Amino acid sequence: MRTRLATKGRNMPRTFLITGSASGIGAATSAYLRGQGARVIGADRRDADITADLATEAGRTALVDRAHDMTGGRLDGVIACAGVAQFDPLTIRVNHFGAVATLEGLRPLLAHGTDPRAVVISSVASLHPTDPGIVDAALAGDEDAAVAAARAAVERGDGAQVYASSKAAIARWTRRTAITPEWAGAGIPLNAIAPGTIVTPMIQDMLDTEAGRRAIDGSVPMPLHGHARPEQIAPLLAWLTSPENSHITGQVVFVDGGADAVLRGDGTW
Ligand code: NAI
Repeated sequence: MRTRLATKGRNMPRTFLITGSASGIGAATSAYLRGQGARVIGADRRDADITADLATEAGRTALVDRAHDMTGGRLDGVIACAGVAQFDPLTIRVNHFGAVATLEGLRPLLAHGTDPRAVVISSVASLHPTDPGIVDAALAGDEDAAVAAARAAVERGDGAQVYASSKAAIARWTRRTAITPEWAGAGIPLNAIAPGTIVTPMIQDMLDTEAGRRAIDGSVPMPLHGHARPEQIAPLLAWLTSPENSHITGQVVFVDGGADAVLRGDGTW
């Protein structure tokens, strides 16, 4: 997969905004796209062109305001990578509400871009046990209720469900939203990817212990090539946000060494 980065009919490089750009998949994707000649504006809590905490309303507003200032109101691609994997309500704030605010807030800038595209990161964890209270509240756009349900999950010892629920909610939001007049109707493909185990700082502590590795590999079996590096995810994100992607929208693309096929078999049809 090779990304054609010259804007159609012109010789301008494409302009992307990538959240979570300071580490892992976001950093690798920023480097990949810059290497292809794109202009990338990175956003993160630290070490980024735009410093913003996407767990907060103020940070989400700052992201959109700064992006507007830096681009003159035009973006060609948005890649929402920022995320956390804590047994804490913070995880639903960042992974779902922060991602939705990023995509909805930057959509008007995409509408002024050329061949605009957007992608968000879900996870194979979206297939793990979820908490309907968290997911339903997230899909209803009720952050207070989602946070309360997440807190209850943590208190009853189901902290892992907060992450799984955040990734299921963003996947379902993507499928619902991608086909609306504001996205498909405006010519903007919107997709999610669902990675398996990617070796980044997010999960390095778990990978460093035998018990942690066993837990991860038990829940995310990857028969093809095992764990991936973030550099192996970047080309997929680049392609999904390239002009070459004319007709893929509303999809959750599993990039997981076969984990989805192992876990769900052929039962999705
Ligand atoms: P990472 O920890 O290396 O990078 C995540 C980045 O998001 C960090 O730079 C962090 O500062 C930023 N971030 C976190 N909270 C933020 C906030 N409130 N505001 C702004 N930025 C914030 O992790 P990685 O692995 O690169 O994760 C990227 C995405 O991929 C996440 O959404 C994660 O859930 C998802 N993912 C990761 C997998 C893995 O195995 N590493 C598997 C499946 C999905």
